[in-house]
Amino acid sequence: MAKALLDVLEGRKPMRRPIWFMRQAGRYLPEYRAVRERAGSFLDLCYNPDLAAEVTLQPLRRFDLDAAILFADILVVPHAMGLEVRFEEGEGPVVQKVLDLAAVERLKEIAGGEQVKRVCETVASVKSQLPSDVGLIGFCGGPWTVASYMIEGGSSDRSAAKVAAFSGEAWFGRLIDRLVEESIEYLSLQIEAGAEAVQIFDSWAGELPGGVGEKFVVKPLAEIVKGLRSRLPGVPVIVFARGFGVRQKVVADEVGAACLGIESELPMEWATTQLSDSVAIQGNLDPVALLAPDEVVEEQVRRICGAISRHRHIFNLGHGIRVGTDPAKIERVIRAVRDFDDR
Ligand code: CP3
Repeated sequence: MAKALLDVLEGRKPMRRPIWFMRQAGRYLPEYRAVRERAGSFLDLCYNPDLAAEVTLQPLRRFDLDAAILFADILVVPHAMGLEVRFEEGEGPVVQKVLDLAAVERLKEIAGGEQVKRVCETVASVKSQLPSDVGLIGFCGGPWTVASYMIEGGSSDRSAAKVAAFSGEAWFGRLIDRLVEESIEYLSLQIEAGAEAVQIFDSWAGELPGGVGEKFVVKPLAEIVKGLRSRLPGVPVIVFARGFGVRQKVVADEVGAACLGIESELPMEWATTQLSDSVAIQGNLDPVALLAPDEVVEEQVRRICGAISRHRHIFNLGHGIRVGTDPAKIERVIRAVRDFDDR
């Protein structure tokens, strides 16, 4: 059966506008919280293929979505490279710091490791249970975003990581290169296990200004896409350089992605007129709009859908679903997109 997600990514006319939501599996769903409690820690859940497959599929049971996204985390890569990673309740991730060349050189190759093996088992398990019209998306973090967690030791204002980038420290450049290599490996293994498209989440791309942003966001993303292409030609890549603003044009022209995810702050009209027609566009409803009354969200949905042809658009948010979002609101948004296209 045709998959609307892959149709748009591969430049064919889809049966309908594909829809999925970043962080569609997660704490806003009571059924996720129930499994999460059973699993133990967040990382235990990521490395339990049965339970991770179950939470990947949960949103598809509730909502009429066109894609599943693998349940894992961008910090699986530093963990698989040998760093300590843990998720503290209410405080976010804690990562063992990497701050010099010796620490970068100690980072392991992820292939053959237990973490990656388990994530790939989740991919295969989801694939075997997936409805025939739903696409399966694998993912990793962008090198800059992952490096920022490795340098800061967790969530922060990223100032230490930015200083390392601005100063062009040799160890920092080497860290980015290592993350490029391991990201190519990790995404290739996910694709071989059954992922049909992959997304690279460079969530903090917008924090690196002109010049530095091209060097440590655009170039590494382009290298990952090129590396993947040479190993697995034809697999569509979605690049989400969040907050890159007008420089999304550089991403569209230089990275070689099939699709660009755009942040909510960027008007969809800008994206459709300024970005090369050869790339599809994903986004960009503000996740905060999901906290507003139905009519307010529906108006936002119509604005976005009105600004872009469904042949080129993957409906999504401009960032992940927030904890506290009413699942009924997701349902409303999906209905509003379908109603817009059927009108
Ligand atoms: O449904 C999905 O989108 C698939 C799974 C997924 C998760 N994280 C699960 C998760 C994906 C694609 C991610 C990506 C991710 N992880 C990003 C990039 C996207 C973004 O949001 O910017 C980043 C920066 C991370 C790192 C991360 N993971 C942080 C900072 C945190 C703590 C903050 C938070 O939201 O809790 C996480 C934890 C995390 N990742 C949770 C989930 C469901 C919550 C953990 C829990 O259940 O306790």
